[in-house]
Amino acid sequence: MDRNAVAAHFAALEAHRVEIASHRTIDFFADDPSRFETFSAKLDDLVYDYSKNRLTRATLHHLFDLARAANLEVRRDALFSGEKANSTEGRPALHMALRNFSGHPILVHGQDVMPEVIAGREKVATFASAVRDGRIRGARGDTFTDIVNIGIGGSDLGPAMATRALSPYGRPNLKAHFVSNVDGADIGDTLAGLDPSRTLIIVSSKTFTTQETMTNAASARAWIAGALGEAAVGDHFAAVSTKLDKVAAFGIKDERVFGFWDWVGGRYSLWSAIGLSLCIAIGPENFEEFLRGGYEVDEHFRNAPLAHNIPVLMGLIGVWHRNVWGFATQAVIPYDQRLARFPAYLQQLEMESNGKHVTRDGAPSPRATCPIVFGEPGTNGQHAFFQLLHQGTEIVPIDFLVASQPTDADAAHHNLLFANCLAQSEAFLRGRSEKEVREILSAQGLSHEEIDRLARHKVFEGDRPSSTFLYKSLTPRALGRLVALYEHKVFVQSVIWDINPFDQWGVELGKELCNRLVPLVSDAAADLSKLDGSTAGLISARNALLGA
Ligand code: F6P
Repeated sequence: MDRNAVAAHFAALEAHRVEIASHRTIDFFADDPSRFETFSAKLDDLVYDYSKNRLTRATLHHLFDLARAANLEVRRDALFSGEKANSTEGRPALHMALRNFSGHPILVHGQDVMPEVIAGREKVATFASAVRDGRIRGARGDTFTDIVNIGIGGSDLGPAMATRALSPYGRPNLKAHFVSNVDGADIGDTLAGLDPSRTLIIVSSKTFTTQETMTNAASARAWIAGALGEAAVGDHFAAVSTKLDKVAAFGIKDERVFGFWDWVGGRYSLWSAIGLSLCIAIGPENFEEFLRGGYEVDEHFRNAPLAHNIPVLMGLIGVWHRNVWGFATQAVIPYDQRLARFPAYLQQLEMESNGKHVTRDGAPSPRATCPIVFGEPGTNGQHAFFQLLHQGTEIVPIDFLVASQPTDADAAHHNLLFANCLAQSEAFLRGRSEKEVREILSAQGLSHEEIDRLARHKVFEGDRPSSTFLYKSLTPRALGRLVALYEHKVFVQSVIWDINPFDQWGVELGKELCNRLVPLVSDAAADLSKLDGSTAGLISARNALLGA
């Protein structure tokens, strides 16, 4: 990348921001009746409307120039061609191979990985079908009614989010559960309601060393062995990992072990065998539909011109907000209850990928990187934190997601849901001026004194940016599209910020310190003198509470 050119384009964007800052987005609509058409993009039945953000054609031109100066298209093509995009770990990032239906090879270190990928996909599908059909059963011959996926981070959030999102495609007699937290309440509460003879445990861990997952797996193993005997363990466990030797040591049968590859990042692994629990829940055909949705987006990202390329637009608008306007957060609000875990999923995808303080060569980043991502489904959020979004001192760009029609839900509710979604984005755009407030209060018959007292409290500045994703309904394909769109958005931003989005060194220090603390918190007589005063004080205080 040409750093000077990138800096010059950021300077041009800054000057452009100053130029348009006195204009209101609502006025752009009045000036241009075709603003919605101009500032929206389509991918099959998906509409991405970004017209409610404060930007003009000139803004987009500046952003595209910035993208070109950062070599976005070159870097994108290099990603797909298998370059070691994860430079600190010396690996490509080729999760796209897992959903590649082009019939063309994908090369990792010069070798086509597609035969292995297809064989892996078939192994997952065959196992999932057999569990669903009752051909694979528990040790006592019972069909499985409950699947418990034990994993954390990318080995949990993706399958948990997608299984919930696609619950209408599930079966009432086969429930998927997700256990992630090392807090024993998680596995305890989950297993409490289950019958061991009808429960299949899937241990999902890329590394098969993650403390939380291994601890929960050991507890689940003890639960099965305690209820059904040690010999039953093999019939009630499956595992997904890249570390097949470690899985073997845990004692899971070969035919129940599903591998994947180190060129699939944890937070990009839902498309791999990590999706096993999802595949069992919704069936292999629907799982393939999900993969196909992701593949469509890959093709779109590779081929659509920048001006119509949805992940490119998402990424660049995010950069406009983060770096030029200085907005530090990003909300994701699905008006789709089944996407309740989508914001949490995106938190890992975005913040673990782009929450970095150095560029690819290790120099301090010259500008802010990933915003803080958060969200909750609408309409619930409206009755909780939307007050701040409307009238707080922080401006929070928002992504709304909404279906045109519900999947297996009361259709009469849907007009209310849809109207709420649009009402919110309209309110964020339009706002309400003090003059309008005064007119309304006056029409309500309030006195001058009462109007003076209340008016400022009822003002909405407006011009709070939002984009809306509208899709026909939340099908497996629609979900696949959404996930892949955000994945590529994250990549686009990483290119502009010149950071490696595929490593996560920031999680290491805490893990290391925890390993050092475990013996110290487990022994009341341990020497705490090498710890900082707060940490030592809290351990002592806990020991006192425990009566130790
Ligand atoms: O601690 C972070 C992390 O490494 C994530 O990147 C990953 O998704 C998660 O832990 C789980 O890792 P694993 O699948 O190896 O158990």
